[in-house]
Amino acid sequence: MTTMESLIGLVNRIQRACTALGDYGGGDNTFSSLWEALPSVAVVGGQSSGKSSVLESIVGRDFLPRGSGIVTRRPLVLQLHKTESGQQEYAEFLHLPKRRFTDFALVRKEIQDETDRITGRTKQISNVPIHLSIYSPNVVNLTLIDLPGLTKVAVEGQPETIVEDIENMVRSYVEKPNCIILAISPANQDIATSDAIKLAREVDPSGERTFGVLTKLDLMDKGTNALDVIEGRSYRLQQPWVGIVNRSQADINKNVDMVLARRKEREYFATSPDYGHLASKMGSEYLAKLLSKHLESVIRARIPSITSLINKSIDELESEMDHLGRPIAVDAGAQLYTILELCRAFDRIFKEHLDGGRPGGDR
Ligand code: GDP
Ligand code: NA
Ligand code: MG
Repeated sequence: MTTMESLIGLVNRIQRACTALGDYGGGDNTFSSLWEALPSVAVVGGQSSGKSSVLESIVGRDFLPRGSGIVTRRPLVLQLHKTESGQQEYAEFLHLPKRRFTDFALVRKEIQDETDRITGRTKQISNVPIHLSIYSPNVVNLTLIDLPGLTKVAVEGQPETIVEDIENMVRSYVEKPNCIILAISPANQDIATSDAIKLAREVDPSGERTFGVLTKLDLMDKGTNALDVIEGRSYRLQQPWVGIVNRSQADINKNVDMVLARRKEREYFATSPDYGHLASKMGSEYLAKLLSKHLESVIRARIPSITSLINKSIDELESEMDHLGRPIAVDAGAQLYTILELCRAFDRIFKEHLDGGRPGGDR
């Protein structure tokens, strides 16, 4: 692993440990500032625009509930942790800390069950996030957030306020300056009607942290194409637009797997008369690379402030540990110790490789 990979990995683990610690010490403390200092990536878009499908292909694994109608009904905070090559891939939920999932079909089932546990088998939504970590040699260190889709009307079984409730929930994630927005719009609808772009423009007017993602290119009317959007003529963003072809509902029903889906997507672009010339800058794999490069540069720029926060955390944690004589939950004590160790490791690697040395360290 490179120095940056190690640092980002540590930051990811500190975030996870802070989450596990929950509200210990109140909401507004060094740990919550630490969490807010670290970038994450959230998907925004209309219902069934392909948000969950895009996240799955970034991860390269099938594990999210997806389909027509309101499927994603609670925020899913997904942390990807890169492990050394050869290690077995597994997933772990914060609410089931002792259970390692190696079968990703069971991960999907647990997301569904855990959603129903709070909302019942309804079309209602809940603000309470589900926290999931995936440990794998094949991922980049990244925090991704899957969110319910923006809608226009309440359907049977939903309260009248649902349209606003969803919008407020989504906004609460994407308005944070550390949030990178994946604004998902389906290519078979006019971009001027895109809910994703509307909300992204509201919270990120300059477009510096918004990536425009155009899904369903395969579903456009014959004789039309999306070049005006993809080439930035319809709606300009600072980041490039990326076109995507996810699995169709028919593919899902036929259990088309990720490997085949990615191959079909690559073939689609390589052989497309409209997009062939852009093939190397289209598709899910390219989007994943683009995002991790962007994230790396954001974290690199923030390293001084992250380092000072981490040093502050170390000081606070050390005095906290000194006071551990007083009654404190055993779990919280262990969790604080974990955070302290991770912060120390971050500080050590930073000092050894980056501080005062060549900017960029060993890369
Ligand atoms: P979400 O509601 O925004 O999370 O969207 P999902 O990922 O659940 O997808 C909704 C439906 O659209 C599913 O039936 C997908 O198979 C389908 N879908 C998503 N993206 C594409 C695409 O690029 N092409 C095609 N043909 N179907 C897609
Ligand atoms: Na959907
Ligand atoms: Mg979804």
